[in-house]
Amino acid sequence: MATIKAVRGTRDLLPPETALWNHVEATARAVFARYGFGEIRTPVFEVTELFARGVGEETDIVSKEMYTWEDRGRTESDKGQSLTLRPENTAGVVRAYIEHKMAETGMLEKLFYIGPQFRRERPQRGRYRQFWQIGAEVLGPPWSGSDSALRDAEVLEMLATLLNELGVKGWRLALNSVGSAEDRAKYSAALREALQPVKHKMCEDNQRRAETNPLRVLDSKEPGDQEIINALPKISEFWSEDSRTHFEQVKAALDACGVAYVEEPRLVRGLDYYTRTTFEFTVPDGSGLGTQNALLGGGRYDGLSEMLGGPKAPGIGFAIGEDRLILTLQAQAAAAEPKKLDAFIAPMGVSQNAGALKLAQDLRRAGLTVEVGDGSFRLKKSFEAADKLARKMVIFGEDEASSGILTVKDFAAGEQTKVPCAELVAMLKG
Ligand code: HAM
Repeated sequence: MATIKAVRGTRDLLPPETALWNHVEATARAVFARYGFGEIRTPVFEVTELFARGVGEETDIVSKEMYTWEDRGRTESDKGQSLTLRPENTAGVVRAYIEHKMAETGMLEKLFYIGPQFRRERPQRGRYRQFWQIGAEVLGPPWSGSDSALRDAEVLEMLATLLNELGVKGWRLALNSVGSAEDRAKYSAALREALQPVKHKMCEDNQRRAETNPLRVLDSKEPGDQEIINALPKISEFWSEDSRTHFEQVKAALDACGVAYVEEPRLVRGLDYYTRTTFEFTVPDGSGLGTQNALLGGGRYDGLSEMLGGPKAPGIGFAIGEDRLILTLQAQAAAAEPKKLDAFIAPMGVSQNAGALKLAQDLRRAGLTVEVGDGSFRLKKSFEAADKLARKMVIFGEDEASSGILTVKDFAAGEQTKVPCAELVAMLKG
């Protein structure tokens, strides 16, 4: 009988890898707590209209990647509802914010979530059909300070802190502003106009986007279209004075906190709800992600609540691709030099085993990492094992036991020295 396998684009997470997932999530929870975030858990499916209205009909996510089905009605005459597995969680969080009248507190809400999302994309390394996001959203009525540039910078500084605490190396923050909804509308019109005479030279997807949602053309990776794309007008030419000032304030606060960023005028991101600040964190090639080098993305969505029928509630947030974060940590750990033990103790003869073990006990109690060989090993074998495992080897023979003077071989320096027992810990630490 044919065996049943996990569905294409989904995968099982098994030990020991799940320990790393738990470590990442625990670190994220600890960091989010320091910045005053509380956890929100929303359903994994929602009515389809939420994503159509929130994320945008013309986005790749909504137009081709959603898992949508017609739910059965309760009775014959009851028409079923169209439901969708969530492809992202910002729309769901804002829906919950409106549904639970959170705006009425007048306070800023800081919410985080960890959970699976679903997109019917072509699976490859770092891209799955069920993937995990660790995300957060900050939103509230304007008088709670929710549209302040300080919030943008705080979220970005928190992300830098989290990635550093997890030990992610070489991350790069790309930053842009897509302007207000009005700036964007003007920019969209200008793009459409600029694309009109040249779009016939572009790929089929971009020809369609040039009509329906010209901003999406900027995301295109199509090599043949890059020359045209590079010559298109830039969003910064369409920023209102307010948008420009807001962006300057975000950058000034990041500079004050020492968070490095690179301005990227073409970063418009693939979801329609963004206004003003948009950003992405990437990792360098060779970090285990192949072409999927976007570790996380996010931005501001000042009009999303109103688009979903709620009160004015500007907000900003992000989602980390947890699968990609794990792949990065694994690849970077594998590339790093394996950590060696502080010492390998080599007993010279089986009769020295007990004394060698006692010495190992003393050294471990002093906080050193230690392995012990066996007295039956020939000296050559002890040297080989010690060289693989440890930075230094301690020879423990009859003479050493009686005199209290030990011979220590330092592999990096290629030196052998005599060390009194009382100085051994300090010498091995050095
Ligand atoms: P997004 O850029 O669509 O934004 O996704 C965020 C991150 O999720 C990506 O940078 C990537 O790491 C990960 N991701 C996306 N698709 C996949 C996939 N198929 N397989 C593995 N990882 C994937 C959002 O989802 C917005 N909701 C972020 C946000 C929050 N904006 C404001 N608040």
